[in-house]
Amino acid sequence: MTENSSSKINETVSWVGRWTFVLAAAGSAVGLGNIWGFPYKAGTEGGGAFVLIYLLCILAVGLPIMMAEIMIGRRARKSPVNAMKIAAIDSGQSGKWQAVGWGGLISGILILSFYSVIAGICLNYIFISAFPNPEISSLTQFNEVTSSPLKLMFWHSIFIFLNILIISAGVISGIERMVRLLMPMLFILMMVMVINAMINGDFAKGLNFLFAPDFSQVDATTFLRAMGQAFFSLSLGMGSIMCYGAYMPQEENIFKTSLTVAGLDTVIAILAGLAIFPIIFAYGLEPGEGPGLVFISLLSVFVDMPLGNILGPAFFALLSIAALSSAISLLEPSVAYFEEEKIASRFSSALILGLSAWFIGIGSVLSFNDWSELEFIGGLNFLDSIDYLANQFLMPIGGMMVAIFAGWFFKPDLALEEFSGIQFYIFQVWRFFIKFVSPLLVATVFIYQLAS
Ligand code: TRP
Repeated sequence: MTENSSSKINETVSWVGRWTFVLAAAGSAVGLGNIWGFPYKAGTEGGGAFVLIYLLCILAVGLPIMMAEIMIGRRARKSPVNAMKIAAIDSGQSGKWQAVGWGGLISGILILSFYSVIAGICLNYIFISAFPNPEISSLTQFNEVTSSPLKLMFWHSIFIFLNILIISAGVISGIERMVRLLMPMLFILMMVMVINAMINGDFAKGLNFLFAPDFSQVDATTFLRAMGQAFFSLSLGMGSIMCYGAYMPQEENIFKTSLTVAGLDTVIAILAGLAIFPIIFAYGLEPGEGPGLVFISLLSVFVDMPLGNILGPAFFALLSIAALSSAISLLEPSVAYFEEEKIASRFSSALILGLSAWFIGIGSVLSFNDWSELEFIGGLNFLDSIDYLANQFLMPIGGMMVAIFAGWFFKPDLALEEFSGIQFYIFQVWRFFIKFVSPLLVATVFIYQLAS
């Protein structure tokens, strides 16, 4: 009975399971950002202090914007480009608001292009950690992986291929079925890793590092990083959540589901920290290693640890699964748009758009090796330039525009309809945040960043 609904066009597609929106949105949110990004940023930005500022950003900016994205998506039941347009026209505003959706589609493909290269490294590490080469250090191992364009290309291609496969199977038979399988697996693997950290790691030190705030390392850039991380981690500002919201059944409560998704995302990020730091400390390594934290420091731990050749692959499988359920949400908005506009079938759209991300990703593959000296935007290599463009630019602008639209231009009556079942005072608090607090905070951080 679920099979035939996936063949219908978008406007009638709706998640089948009651929990699917939460699973799919959490699948989108929980990704490399949580398990790879959050721990290394917390590690370099002062541990608990960063965590605290991050939580504030989630509550004051992330949650209100997530609710706004779902509201707009569900109101229109279309891909982000058309959702913004319909929501604007229904509110008596210009259809040009669809530009926000366009920005989202473009950043989705851009993010996917480098996300896939890093996710490919995670896939590769499942095997590397199962059969580690005892002759070489984990740093040499990492360099060996990243210095080979062919190896990186191979895993990048596999990862994009998996995305195309899932997306082309459709919203219900592809995405819904995958997140129902992947999310419980992810949770179980995470539990295994945290228990492992309790047994094999210095858990007290890990807890202390994550929760005892050290404000001496906090400066303006900490806020910048925390806000960027909150946006990225909740998949906001580019239509992933708006697109999944379009498939959300009318009777589901937007506030409760957003709270659950943001809560799960935060819990997983913190659990990732609790899985990683205790063993980093127990083996006398530094928490502030940066992006190499999981690939270099953690790999060296797995090589030494009892059962490391089972726990290591389990950890990197966890990372790959999280990355896969996020990556499909980066591709889905543009595929949904192509299908909706009848530009191509779902399968061809997934293929065309997936291959575009694959192609742009070649630049990111090369930025680890042959192009490592080439500078694109402001002295950054290709991968970092795309990352910069999408994360520091398109996403904050997208998120701010969604907030401004939802707070100032979207008809309050329509908003109230979407928020039915929610207490009125919650609605009012949301309106206050989405009108004033969220856009101002994003604007401040954005302008500060441009100025510095
Ligand atoms: N949130 C995911 C992560 O933490 C990545 C992601 C998926 C994303 N969809 C997104 C980031 C949309 C920004 C926008 O890894």
